[in-house]
Amino acid sequence: MRILILGGDGYLGWPTAMHLTTKGHDVAVVDNYLRRRLCREVSVEPLFEVPDLHQRCTLWENTSGSRIPVFIGDLTKWEFVEEVFSGFLPEAIVHYAEQPAAPYSMLNRQAAALTLHNNLSVTANLIFAVRKFCPRVHIVKLGTMGEYGTPNIDIEEGWLEVEHKGRHHKFLYPRQASSLYHTTKIMDTDLLWFYVRTWDLRVTDLMQGPVYGLFTDETDNDDRLLPFFNYDEIFGTVLNRFVVQAVTGHPLTVYGKGGQTRGYLNIRDTLSCVRLSLENPAERGELRIFNQFTETFSVNELAKKVQAVGNSMGLGVKIEHVENPRIEAEQHYYNPTHTGLLELGLEPHHLTEDTLSRMIAFVRAHKGKIKNDQIYRKVKWA
Ligand SMILES: NC(=O)c1ccc[n+]([C@@H]2O[C@H](COP(=O)([O-])OP(=O)(O)OC[C@H]3O[C@@H](n4cnc5c(N)ncnc54)[C@H](O)[C@@H]3O)[C@@H](O)[C@H]2O)c1
Repeated sequence: MRILILGGDGYLGWPTAMHLTTKGHDVAVVDNYLRRRLCREVSVEPLFEVPDLHQRCTLWENTSGSRIPVFIGDLTKWEFVEEVFSGFLPEAIVHYAEQPAAPYSMLNRQAAALTLHNNLSVTANLIFAVRKFCPRVHIVKLGTMGEYGTPNIDIEEGWLEVEHKGRHHKFLYPRQASSLYHTTKIMDTDLLWFYVRTWDLRVTDLMQGPVYGLFTDETDNDDRLLPFFNYDEIFGTVLNRFVVQAVTGHPLTVYGKGGQTRGYLNIRDTLSCVRLSLENPAERGELRIFNQFTETFSVNELAKKVQAVGNSMGLGVKIEHVENPRIEAEQHYYNPTHTGLLELGLEPHHLTEDTLSRMIAFVRAHKGKIKNDQIYRKVKWA
């Protein structure tokens, strides 16, 4: 398949691009380095420097023989979108190109406006480009489990059958996010659902939980092919942050009571889920939704896992409950369904002691690069 990856420089976009080429697909990547720019603007940087997208594609071509064309530009700009779609007519599209950090979206008015404008404009431009250039392509869109929030009933896979006054109807499962970023993801889903009904688009929306890890089969022989690894409060995800905290002797910062429970997955499983969705496309006029995670953990459980493995490696890990900057339930019911991707053939990589000790050992080898002032600045949510 000819697959266009929007956001191909990102934490997930770059590993996905390499992975799909090893499975025999033709891939092109698009990015405007928004993530790199926003990190610079809030003065945080990943654990190690990452080559730019052209350099990564050259490295990958030298390693694998697969050439990945690169388009650098802003997908909120229609002229650029037209240039990309006429230059690489895709058969499928993976849409990662969004401002993905909840804490960033809650920093201030400017960050909120950027998140709203960027995320909704890219999704809308994608829809219009598909309609104009390739109306039959399959769009695989990254949503988030955060769209559902933490309701006091089981979370279904995208849809809910409602019985009301003796009649039945199937609706999108009710969504109630706890950040502006997550709210833009809800709006994305609504936009896609509207145009699936109106223009018969074919869409898979992957409601993904927080991803951890950085190793994939494609990165094994060359560290320069690794994705970003942020450990700050704005762009770092919780497990990656705990690993860095453990290595530096900083107490693991559990927000509030720590009962916040979410569905997590290894970055290797993200690649499999996206590939399985691409290789088993939705029908025309279908919005197919999968809940994309493999295990649920509370923040306390994650912290205890990192502590146990860290201590077995001689680290002496401490856990501290700190003030929660987020408005969220700290103890709640959580029981989401996630069978769709398993039925397509997903074989999960669970969060084992081995996985954690490999991450800790890698971060320990890069300890000299960790900026202690990035670990916990008590960033407030506006
Ligand atoms: N990483 C996770 O744990 C996670 C969890 C759930 C959902 N997601 C979703 O997955 C997607 C990818 O996440 P990620 O962690 O790889 O984020 P990321 O920021 O590393 O990747 C997104 C990429 O898109 C690019 N981009 C953003 N706006 C763009 C624009 N206007 N034009 C061109 N390029 C643009 C960014 O520069 C970046 O390289 C996001 O949509 C995110 O909401 C991620």
